[in-house]
Amino acid sequence: MAHPLTALEPALAETANFMDEAIASVLPEASGPEGRVIEAMRYAALGGGKRLRAFLALQCGRLFGVDRRAMGRVAAAIECVHAYSLVHDDLPAMDNDEVRRGKPTVHKAYDEATAILAGDALLTAAFGILASHETHPDPHVRCDLVVKLAGASGAHGMVGGQMMDMSAQTQDFDLGGITRLQRLKTGALIAFSCDAGAIMGRASREARHALAYYAQDLGLAFQITDDLLDLEGDPATLGKATAKDNTAGKATIVTLLGVERAREQAQRLAAQSVQHLEIFDERADLLRALSGFVVARRH
Ligand code: IPE
Ligand code: IPE
Ligand code: MG
Ligand code: MG
Ligand code: MG
Repeated sequence: MAHPLTALEPALAETANFMDEAIASVLPEASGPEGRVIEAMRYAALGGGKRLRAFLALQCGRLFGVDRRAMGRVAAAIECVHAYSLVHDDLPAMDNDEVRRGKPTVHKAYDEATAILAGDALLTAAFGILASHETHPDPHVRCDLVVKLAGASGAHGMVGGQMMDMSAQTQDFDLGGITRLQRLKTGALIAFSCDAGAIMGRASREARHALAYYAQDLGLAFQITDDLLDLEGDPATLGKATAKDNTAGKATIVTLLGVERAREQAQRLAAQSVQHLEIFDERADLLRALSGFVVARRH
């Protein structure tokens, strides 16, 4: 069942504000001869983005009564990894993009070396934030977060998906292959965002599984929509260039299924994602509404 987006939009806007402060407070201030890389990190991570992964983490944490400030630190770590992935994704060696979140990409605003280093430092910062006692008093919880984020970001997670995505320019993937690519490239970090709330809240196995299934369907619906927006979106609204995938000759779900079937698939997955939330009460309503947003979004 579709859930109204009316309460979601102010909640997303509030999260975006909250996250700018949360991220600013965990990143170093630019100073000294290394200040340039810190400036670039702040440029990449602050003042933009839908903060969807942070929203997922905060909302999932809320289901289990997790302290919002502590959850904000975890959400900040996730957004740092996401921002790093975008900085590197935009590099000339990868998608070669000049605009991100409505402003010049980091390698355009700074230079390639600074962009590589800023990405490296954002990734490293994320693990430092999670491992800090300020995030959770129990070292087992912190360790679980670190291990799970490493898995979601690494060679069998986002990085692996990015590797497959690069290969998709020259290699033909079938539907199963593209689905796996999307699960790794985008799905893994989205799934970790939900799991992080469950880990912080010591959720039951049942609740944790329900969120994992929700995240899996939501992540696929999200990436199919990203591929559709690359074809049909407005660059000014999106804050990034469009028609990149086709020009690069990249196989996506849209090139495999065509626009209509890809859209249907995204909608089906979004509807399915909501069904996994049945065990939760009305505190999961924003997560339910998010499923609708993910496929209806124009940015
Ligand atoms: C863009 O992610 C990269 C993908 C994984 C498709 P988002 O669309 O969440 O980017 P921001 O954070 O809102 O800029
Ligand atoms: C990038 O996917 C996903 C990442 C892990 C960074 P895309 O290359 O499709 O993301 P956009 O379209 O540039 O935002
Ligand atoms: Mg890419
Ligand atoms: Mg890209
Ligand atoms: Mg894209």
